[in-house]
Amino acid sequence: MGIFRNLQSVVRFRKPQFSRTRRRFERAANIDDLRAIAKRRLPGGIFDYIDGGAEDEWSARNNVAAYSRIELRPRILRDVSAIDTSTTLLGQKTSLPFILAPTGFSRIAQSQGELAVARVADKLGLVYCHSTLATRSIEEVSAVSNGQQWFQVYMWRDRAMLRDILQRLRDSGYTALALTVDTAVLGRRERDVRRGFTLPPKIGLDTIVDGILHPSWTWDFIRNEPITFANVATDSRGAGGTAVSLSAYINEQFDPSITWDAVEWLQAEWNGPLFIKGIQCTEDAVIASKIGVAGIMVSNHGGRQLDGSPAPIDLIEPIAQLVQGQLTIICEGGIRRGSDILKAIALGADICAVGRAHFYGLGAAGELGVMRAIEMLKDELTRAMALSGVRKISEITRDLVKIRQ
Ligand SMILES: Cc1cc2nc3c(=O)[nH]c(=O)nc-3n(C[C@H](O)[C@H](O)[C@H](O)COP(=O)(O)O)c2cc1C
Repeated sequence: MGIFRNLQSVVRFRKPQFSRTRRRFERAANIDDLRAIAKRRLPGGIFDYIDGGAEDEWSARNNVAAYSRIELRPRILRDVSAIDTSTTLLGQKTSLPFILAPTGFSRIAQSQGELAVARVADKLGLVYCHSTLATRSIEEVSAVSNGQQWFQVYMWRDRAMLRDILQRLRDSGYTALALTVDTAVLGRRERDVRRGFTLPPKIGLDTIVDGILHPSWTWDFIRNEPITFANVATDSRGAGGTAVSLSAYINEQFDPSITWDAVEWLQAEWNGPLFIKGIQCTEDAVIASKIGVAGIMVSNHGGRQLDGSPAPIDLIEPIAQLVQGQLTIICEGGIRRGSDILKAIALGADICAVGRAHFYGLGAAGELGVMRAIEMLKDELTRAMALSGVRKISEITRDLVKIRQ
């Protein structure tokens, strides 16, 4: 009895959790664990759509690996009893130095889709960038969030339709626009090619088998309204209600002939902050700064477009040396740890963006999973700041990192 009492005084027992899925979710320690849970919960084709990259997926892997080539140079004994992770973006406070990148088709992971992501962003004081290819509409998203919302656009062939979208964004209070420029044609995502991936997913024998093997996803999918390109679902010009492959849709709807003139056209039409999403070299960053856009998203679309394109983190320092202070530099691609964000800011990014990190959370456990993903990144960033001897974002400077040769 004595021994048992002694043991009890220092050891606390965990409440038993009988659901294996819940147990796994509760014990998830990082974004990779959420990815593993999403992989189990989702049918193979859906997980591959989220996780995959273009062709050999070298860029997708390299985006992540590039962070491990950067070493931290922690400083000690600097009173880190209070850490402040907030920063400003377009003059507004944001609680963390990252935004939630646009991801199309979110409802295929979980029925709430983009609404879940927007709600979490609102609760945690982050910017959410809603996608043109979303499965919840501009209006549905703004109805569930009072937070700052941006919208990601492609250059529609039908400019009148794009004008109508801009008006809807103004009416719904969206504050900034991100024009994606790395998708003149869709990158060849070979996992999707092999699976014959479409939106909405086509039901075949393989889907039925997959559905039986993934009952929680299937139950959620069949109970909820059909998935469409919600931003244009009722507009015959946008063909949002029909099942198509992503590459066919992009080829039909978006204009591959655009040049920098289109950026200026959009800037004049929108008359608000405009970001160029998909800058992949220094020369284009300089042109963007001359045109006078609000910012650039240094990004290769998470390695989903041109395989062989460089890791965004490797471009941040050379780009910052040329244009820092002239526009907002956003680093996005490959971020899986809070310390990755610290590294990007040290090299010259103003802020970061995360895509798969929150999408894995959505696939693992819907809104709860998105919340968990963001909290993990916040926790890791706070800890990395404390252990590196920085108390606030403005104290993250170049001497905090060393690039390994
Ligand atoms: C499943 C998925 C869907 C995406 N959909 C879009 C999209 O509709 N528009 C867009 O500009 N970028 C899209 N992206 C790219 C992201 O905005 C972002 O550039 C990328 O996810 C960043 O890399 P990370 O996933 O490693 O964080 C998508 C990315 C993923 C993973």
